[in-house]
Amino acid sequence: MGNLFRSERMGPAQRRLGQLDGAALLPFTFEGQPLQARAGESVAAALLANGIRHWRNAEDGSPRGLFCGVGQCWECRCIIDGRPNARACTTEVTPGLAVRRQEQLGSFG
Ligand code: FES
Repeated sequence: MGNLFRSERMGPAQRRLGQLDGAALLPFTFEGQPLQARAGESVAAALLANGIRHWRNAEDGSPRGLFCGVGQCWECRCIIDGRPNARACTTEVTPGLAVRRQEQLGSFG
Protein backbone atom coordinates (compact mmCIF):
# COMPACT_ATOMS: atom_id res chain seq x y z
CA MET A 1 0.00 0.00 0.00
CA GLY A 2 1.30 3.42 -0.88
CA ASN A 3 2.17 5.96 1.73
CA LEU A 4 0.01 9.01 1.09
CA PHE A 5 1.89 11.02 3.70
CA ARG A 6 5.14 11.14 1.81
CA SER A 7 5.88 14.72 0.86
CA GLU A 8 7.16 13.82 -2.60
CA ARG A 9 3.61 12.73 -3.49
CA MET A 10 2.17 16.06 -2.45
CA GLY A 11 1.53 18.92 -4.82
CA PRO A 12 2.55 22.51 -4.10
CA ALA A 13 -0.77 23.37 -2.40
CA GLN A 14 -0.48 20.45 0.00
CA ARG A 15 3.10 21.34 0.89
CA ARG A 16 1.98 24.84 1.90
CA LEU A 17 -0.31 23.31 4.54
CA GLY A 18 2.66 21.83 6.36
CA GLN A 19 4.79 18.76 6.44
CA LEU A 20 3.68 15.66 8.31
CA ASP A 21 7.01 13.88 8.14
CA GLY A 22 7.80 14.64 11.80
CA ALA A 23 4.49 13.36 13.22
CA ALA A 24 4.60 10.07 15.11
CA LEU A 25 2.99 7.02 13.51
CA LEU A 26 0.21 5.44 15.57
CA PRO A 27 -1.05 1.88 15.00
CA PHE A 28 -4.79 1.34 14.69
CA THR A 29 -7.02 -1.19 12.94
CA PHE A 30 -9.95 -1.09 10.54
CA GLU A 31 -11.96 -4.30 10.30
CA GLY A 32 -9.02 -6.00 12.00
CA GLN A 33 -6.55 -4.79 9.36
CA PRO A 34 -3.50 -3.11 10.92
CA LEU A 35 -2.98 0.46 9.70
CA GLN A 36 -1.05 3.54 10.72
CA ALA A 37 -2.12 7.12 11.36
CA ARG A 38 -0.19 10.28 12.01
CA ALA A 39 -0.47 11.67 15.53
CA GLY A 40 -3.23 14.25 15.67
CA GLU A 41 -5.26 12.86 12.77
CA SER A 42 -8.96 12.14 13.00
CA VAL A 43 -10.15 8.60 12.32
CA ALA A 44 -11.69 9.85 9.06
CA ALA A 45 -8.44 11.45 7.91
CA ALA A 46 -6.48 8.33 8.79
CA LEU A 47 -8.92 6.05 6.96
CA LEU A 48 -8.84 8.24 3.85
CA ALA A 49 -5.05 8.39 3.96
CA ASN A 50 -5.05 4.59 3.97
CA GLY A 51 -7.33 4.47 0.92
CA ILE A 52 -10.53 3.60 2.82
CA ARG A 53 -13.54 5.74 1.84
CA HIS A 54 -16.45 3.62 3.06
CA TRP A 55 -17.00 2.76 6.71
CA ARG A 56 -20.78 2.55 7.11
CA ASN A 57 -23.65 1.02 5.18
CA ALA A 58 -26.82 3.13 5.30
CA GLU A 59 -30.29 1.72 5.80
CA ASP A 60 -30.71 1.28 2.03
CA GLY A 61 -27.34 -0.47 1.82
CA SER A 62 -25.52 2.43 0.20
CA PRO A 63 -21.92 3.04 1.27
CA ARG A 64 -21.18 6.00 3.51
CA GLY A 65 -18.04 7.74 4.71
CA LEU A 66 -16.90 11.33 5.13
CA PHE A 67 -19.32 14.10 4.13
CA CYS A 68 -19.15 17.36 6.11
CA GLY A 69 -15.96 16.58 7.98
CA VAL A 70 -16.87 18.87 10.88
CA GLY A 71 -19.17 16.81 13.11
CA GLN A 72 -22.52 18.02 11.82
CA CYS A 73 -24.01 15.44 9.42
CA TRP A 74 -23.28 12.10 11.16
CA GLU A 75 -22.61 10.41 7.82
CA CYS A 76 -19.22 9.23 9.13
CA ARG A 77 -20.66 7.08 11.93
CA CYS A 78 -18.73 3.90 12.61
CA ILE A 79 -17.88 1.59 15.47
CA ILE A 80 -14.85 2.77 17.43
CA ASP A 81 -13.54 0.55 20.22
CA GLY A 82 -16.93 -1.22 20.31
CA ARG A 83 -18.94 2.01 20.51
CA PRO A 84 -21.44 2.38 17.63
CA ASN A 85 -22.37 5.75 16.12
CA ALA A 86 -18.96 7.28 16.83
CA ARG A 87 -18.13 10.09 14.42
CA ALA A 88 -14.93 9.36 12.53
CA CYS A 89 -14.40 13.03 11.68
CA THR A 90 -14.32 14.21 15.29
CA THR A 91 -12.52 11.28 16.92
CA GLU A 92 -8.75 11.49 17.15
CA VAL A 93 -6.77 8.34 16.51
CA THR A 94 -5.08 6.96 19.60
CA PRO A 95 -2.66 4.02 19.64
CA GLY A 96 -4.47 0.68 19.31
CA LEU A 97 -7.84 2.16 18.33
CA ALA A 98 -10.14 -0.46 16.74
CA VAL A 99 -12.44 0.86 14.02
CA ARG A 100 -15.15 -1.26 12.44
CA ARG A 101 -17.63 -0.66 9.65
CA GLN A 102 -21.14 0.05 10.96
CA GLU A 103 -24.29 -1.46 9.51
CA GLN A 104 -27.28 0.87 9.38
CA LEU A 105 -28.07 2.45 12.75
CA GLY A 106 -25.62 0.33 14.72
CA SER A 107 -26.27 -1.54 17.92
CA PHE A 108 -24.45 -2.56 21.05
CA GLY A 109 -23.39 -6.16 21.43
S1 FES B 1 -18.59 13.71 8.25
FE1 FES B 1 -20.27 14.86 8.97
S2 FES B 1 -20.32 14.38 11.10
FE2 FES B 1 -18.54 13.38 10.38
